[in-house]
Amino acid sequence: MDKLAIIGGRELYGELEISGAKNSALKVMVACLLTDETLTLTNVPNLADVRQLIVLLENHGVEVDRQGSRLDLTAGSITSTTAPYDIVRKMRASFNVLGPLLARERQAKVSLPGGCAIGARPVNFHIAAFEAMGATIEIEEGYVLAEAPDGLKGAIIDLPFPSVGATEHTMMAATLAEGRTVIKNAAREPELSDLADCLRAMGAKIEGDGTSEITIDGVQQLSGATHDIVADRIEFGSYAMAVGAAGGELFLRRGRLDLLGDAATTLREAGLTLEEEDGGVRVSRWGKPTISTNITTAPFPGFPTDFQAQYMALMAVGNGTATITEQVFENRFMHAPELMRLGADIEVDGQTATVRGKTTLKGAPVMATDLRASMSLIVAGLAAEGQTMVSRLYHLDRGFERLDEKFQSVGALVERVKDEE
Ligand code: EPZ
Repeated sequence: MDKLAIIGGRELYGELEISGAKNSALKVMVACLLTDETLTLTNVPNLADVRQLIVLLENHGVEVDRQGSRLDLTAGSITSTTAPYDIVRKMRASFNVLGPLLARERQAKVSLPGGCAIGARPVNFHIAAFEAMGATIEIEEGYVLAEAPDGLKGAIIDLPFPSVGATEHTMMAATLAEGRTVIKNAAREPELSDLADCLRAMGAKIEGDGTSEITIDGVQQLSGATHDIVADRIEFGSYAMAVGAAGGELFLRRGRLDLLGDAATTLREAGLTLEEEDGGVRVSRWGKPTISTNITTAPFPGFPTDFQAQYMALMAVGNGTATITEQVFENRFMHAPELMRLGADIEVDGQTATVRGKTTLKGAPVMATDLRASMSLIVAGLAAEGQTMVSRLYHLDRGFERLDEKFQSVGALVERVKDEE
């Protein structure tokens, strides 16, 4: 298991390119199951989660051709409608093969993903949506057994919470259902619109993505298409927060302020300068303090839960006190005790953390607990005096492409070291 050694206290300067969004690529790749023609994707990040999903798609009979960041996916025929536990448990997004398999093959057997470090993350909204669309669903030995012998039928789906996964999953399956599906209280995240763009290019009839009500009129079949994956807003925001914590100026190519939603305003209030330029966004903070600013996480366009950990690291070096309230996942403060090892002053009470900013943090060995939490330790480590050693780097390799190289290219003293343990 690799570690990352960081010598903090250096400002970041230069430019780097934001990769394609993991959370878009993982859904758009699954869309290949909806057609027997080739789906070509460009700007696909080379990440452990993407490689894991390729293994699952191959298990269903998909032919995969990867050339750099281009992927050709051809599901000429589906050779298996079972998604085994061993694959699904490693990466939750693989549960989203259920809907496309059900829509195309009229049956699927997909392992339940199980728990997760950041919360229980049930899939009850997904299952209720498919039942409303006429599927019969049973849970047996940890697997969801779904059948729709006469095909899925359009339905009105009113989600109890604007779940990203449930909205995307229902939208994908509804493209091949008979009649109209309306998803109310739909998620509005940019990755969902990216998926809708790809499905439309494949011939799907979808309207309203990016709003709280999405309408899908089912079609008989979808065709192949070529689609470019949208830039990763979480990677973009994470590098911006790294500049906030360490100081300096970065030009983030392919970054887009509209992808940040309300977080763009919050980051400016926290002392960052964000300027949209041709082909990207310039992010800077020099001389000025980081201003402690309260946030509450919420579905898009609210402050993303996937920024919360990195933002806590930024607030650890703020000029006052900030409260951070997490309301999307119930257990997403596992980074707090690790940040405290660097000297951060954080008090967690239920779903709210109070962070009293300090002028200096001090490097220490810390342990990554999940993907975004790992990035928060790096953000803090870049601002801290001395060496921070982040272990369990595999979490980062799931979601941040060439992270060590990218940081090195803008002057950060970071180095990947092989763990001898
Ligand atoms: C997606 O997860 C992302 N994952 C997450 O990113 C992200 O944090 C999350 O959306 C919120 O933005 C991918 O896109 C692969 P949800 P998802 O369904 O779809 C509850 C990362 O680090 N819920 O919007 O699983 C759920 O428990 C990851 O890249 C139900 O109760 O999130 C949570 O409290 C982490 N029942 C809330 O809704 C359901 O059936 C929002 O979850 C579904 C969800």
